[in-house]
Amino acid sequence: MTTLTSKDYMAKEDKFGAHNYHPLPVVLAKGEGVFVWDVEGKKYFDFLAAYSAVNQGHCHPKIVKALTDQAQTLALTSRAFYNNVLGDWEEYMTKLFGYDKMLPMNSGAEADETALKLIRKWAYKVKGIPTNEAKIVVCDGNFHGRTITIISMSSDPDAYQHYGPYTPGFVNIPYNDLERLEAELKDPNVAGFLVEPIQAEAGVYVPEDGYLKKASELCKKYNVLFVADEVQTGLARTGKMLACDHEGVRPDILVLGKAVSGGLYPVSCVLADNEIMLTIKPGEHGSTYGGNPMAAKVAMAALDVLQDEKLVENSERLGKIFRAEMKAIKSEMIEIVRGKGLLNAIAIKPTNGKSAWDVCLAMKENGLLAKPTHEHIIRFTPPLVITEEQMMEAIEIIKKTFKEFEG
Ligand SMILES: Cc1ncc(COP(=O)(O)O)c(C=O)c1O
Repeated sequence: MTTLTSKDYMAKEDKFGAHNYHPLPVVLAKGEGVFVWDVEGKKYFDFLAAYSAVNQGHCHPKIVKALTDQAQTLALTSRAFYNNVLGDWEEYMTKLFGYDKMLPMNSGAEADETALKLIRKWAYKVKGIPTNEAKIVVCDGNFHGRTITIISMSSDPDAYQHYGPYTPGFVNIPYNDLERLEAELKDPNVAGFLVEPIQAEAGVYVPEDGYLKKASELCKKYNVLFVADEVQTGLARTGKMLACDHEGVRPDILVLGKAVSGGLYPVSCVLADNEIMLTIKPGEHGSTYGGNPMAAKVAMAALDVLQDEKLVENSERLGKIFRAEMKAIKSEMIEIVRGKGLLNAIAIKPTNGKSAWDVCLAMKENGLLAKPTHEHIIRFTPPLVITEEQMMEAIEIIKKTFKEFEG
């Protein structure tokens, strides 16, 4: 048996795989908690956590058990039949988040598509907008996934260019701009406002305090649905269960994904009350895998872990330490440190020909994995199970790395 090296695995992906990603040159073979190991056995802190899907840490034993137990019992029925787990999960989610109903899907993009469909159904069946004239307000810099409709809302050429023609019906406005929002909401054909409470993919842009609250109030005033995409910000990542909780905002439609499964399985869902959710009738929307028993068991275990291990509190507490330590680093490369809870980013000023990518390569050499988003921003989002001791060790690696770029 031949043993392949990291180089071999990378070459194989390069040869046989589509080139739609630009990964850091590291080949991972194992994960546990906040750590991952490459094929040569080198250990790293994982400070990406699969874009916040692995909030509960890699291969959490309770979630793994839920997955393997259910996999050996009943994995998939499709929704042609009932199964004896989905109802439990729906009850769990609606009680935890305070909504009448849940609709399960698989990926974050599918959950966002579901939310868009719900907005449009509600527009025609409840608000009374003339057929095919509903508009949805979205923000520049958004990231809601990769489908044709979703990239039709994008302001990022990498996401939308050469994928046209685009889905109509979206109105883009700047993020964090309440005046523009109110101006658009006055249009009686506007049915929904879809927003990320913090724009994570765009570079962890945190809006001004009060933005979400005021935006949701404006939506109420103009009879427009306030829809929060919490696929990345949700589930303890920002130091609250939902990022909207920071401002006491209850979205009309809540979109969740990623950490709903703690990284074990693709699971997403949308939550809303009856007036909105029951506009979709049998046969009008769905997914073969959506709401399967494995997803349901995994999701309940993953949400139990978030609560049992007090990951909301840990995220809030260690996030403060992280930002304070990052702000204390004296490096001309660090332009700004921002974030909430354990969703943080550093904007990097390219210095002496060195960029955010070079910093990430150097951190990798020093035992910590993070990835640039939009060239000059590095996002730091470790699993929320990280302990204070581990956090201090990781901070030392980051400090040491910036020191290496001095002079
Ligand atoms: C806010 C937000 N919405 C939706 C998505 C899409 O999720 P998925 O990649 O599971 O389709 C992402 C992914 O990064 C996201 O950050």
